[in-house]
Amino acid sequence: MVKMLRCIVVLTALVVSAHGLDNGLALTPPMGWMSWERFRCNIDCKNQPNDCIGEKLFMDMADRMVEDGFKDAGYEYVNIDDCWDLKERDSAGKLQADPDRFPSGIKKLADYVHSRGLKLGIYNDFGTKTCGGYPGSLGHLEVDAKTFAEWGVDMLKMDGCYADVKTMPQGYSNMTKALNATGRPILFSCSWPDYERASKIQPDYKLIAKNCNIWRNYIDIQDSWDSVLKIIDYYAQEQDTLAAVSAPGSFNDPDMLIIGDFSLSVEQAKAQMAMWSILAAPMLMSNDLRTISPEFREILLNKEVIKINQDPSGKMGKRVMQSGNVEVWSRELGFLDEYALAFLNRGTEGTPLNFTVQLKDLGLRPGIYFLIEIFEDKDIADFDTDSYFSTIITPNGVSFIHAYPSQFYNSV
Ligand code: GLA
Repeated sequence: MVKMLRCIVVLTALVVSAHGLDNGLALTPPMGWMSWERFRCNIDCKNQPNDCIGEKLFMDMADRMVEDGFKDAGYEYVNIDDCWDLKERDSAGKLQADPDRFPSGIKKLADYVHSRGLKLGIYNDFGTKTCGGYPGSLGHLEVDAKTFAEWGVDMLKMDGCYADVKTMPQGYSNMTKALNATGRPILFSCSWPDYERASKIQPDYKLIAKNCNIWRNYIDIQDSWDSVLKIIDYYAQEQDTLAAVSAPGSFNDPDMLIIGDFSLSVEQAKAQMAMWSILAAPMLMSNDLRTISPEFREILLNKEVIKINQDPSGKMGKRVMQSGNVEVWSRELGFLDEYALAFLNRGTEGTPLNFTVQLKDLGLRPGIYFLIEIFEDKDIADFDTDSYFSTIITPNGVSFIHAYPSQFYNSV
C-alpha cells in the first residue's frame, strides 16, 4: 500500500508544474558530486596527479559513481568547480580549459561523462574574476553560455566574487536568458543571494526562483561539524522565507555534503544527510569516492533518506521544536499527510539521550501515524498524535523518522 501511495504522489507531482526557471530541470533536488570542498584549487597535477583539478579527477569520480552504486541511487551530476581554465580567454574571447590539466578539453570530458550515463557541470563567476582569480563572465555572458552549451555542459554554478552586488538581480537574469537562448537545458546554480546576504541586502527570492534552479544562501561549508551546525542555524533563522520558495524546479542550496571527508563522525554524517533531506537540499557530495570508507558510502546511498530528499512535493522542512540540546525538524512529504522528522541532538554528553514528545506538538495533523526509523530501517509502531513518543538520539547525531498516516500503511 505504501508503494501505491507513492505512485499516487508521483503522478500528482507530474501534473504540478515547476514554478522555477522554466527549463524543466531540478524537479527534485539535483544530486551529484562537486570538486570544491574536498579538492579546492589544487592545480599541481605534476606532483599530485590524482588530486588536482584536471580531467582525470572528474573521470575517476564518474567511474566511481557508476561502479559503486551512486548513479543507481540517483547521483547524476559531476561538477567541475573553480580553477579549471586558463587565466586568459582565447583570441575569440572564449574561456579555455587549461590544456595541461584537461588535455582532451571539456567537450571530450562531457562526452565521457555522458557515455557513463551522467551529466557534467561547470563553474564560472558573474564578476570580473572567479573567487580563485580565473576569468569571470562579466561582459561575456552570451559567449560563455554558448561555449558551455557547445561543450555539452549540463549545469552551471555561477559564483559572485569580484562583482557589484547591486547589479546581480539584472545580471544573473541576463545569464538565465543567455542560457535559455542556447536551447540546451542547463541547470543554473546561482550564488547571488549569498552575496546579497553578505552585503546586507534582502534577497528577492521570488525573482531568484524564477531565474535559478538552485541557489546558495549562506557561507561556504568547511570540513567540520561546527560548519554544518552554523548552516543549519542559518536555515532555522530564515526558514519561513526559504521554505516559501522551495518547490519543484527551485531549491535552496545549503552547500555540499562533506560525508566521508576528514571531519565528520559516522553519527554526524547521518545527521548531515538527514538534515539536507529535511531541507530539500541539493545532494552534491564533495569527497573522494575512490577512497571513501564503506560506512560513509552506505549513508550516502541510503535509499530511504534519498527518497525523502527527493520527495516530489519539493517542500522544505522547518525546525518545529527546540528543547535543551535537541532540535526537532519536520518536513511534510507528498500530498497525503506524510512527514519526515529529524530529532537532532547537538549535545556532546557522551551518552545517547532519551527524548520524549507528543507528536501533536510537532505540528502533525491529528491522527494515527505509523513510524519508521529510517537509518535502522526499523518499523516502530502506530502512534496517536496525543500519545507520547520516545526516541534515543546519539550525541551529535540524529534520530530520523518517517511518519505515514496509519490508515494507508496498515491496509497492506
Ligand atoms: C566560493 C564558492 C565556493 C567555491 C569557491 C571557488 O567561495 O562559494 O563554493 O565555488 O568560491 O573559488
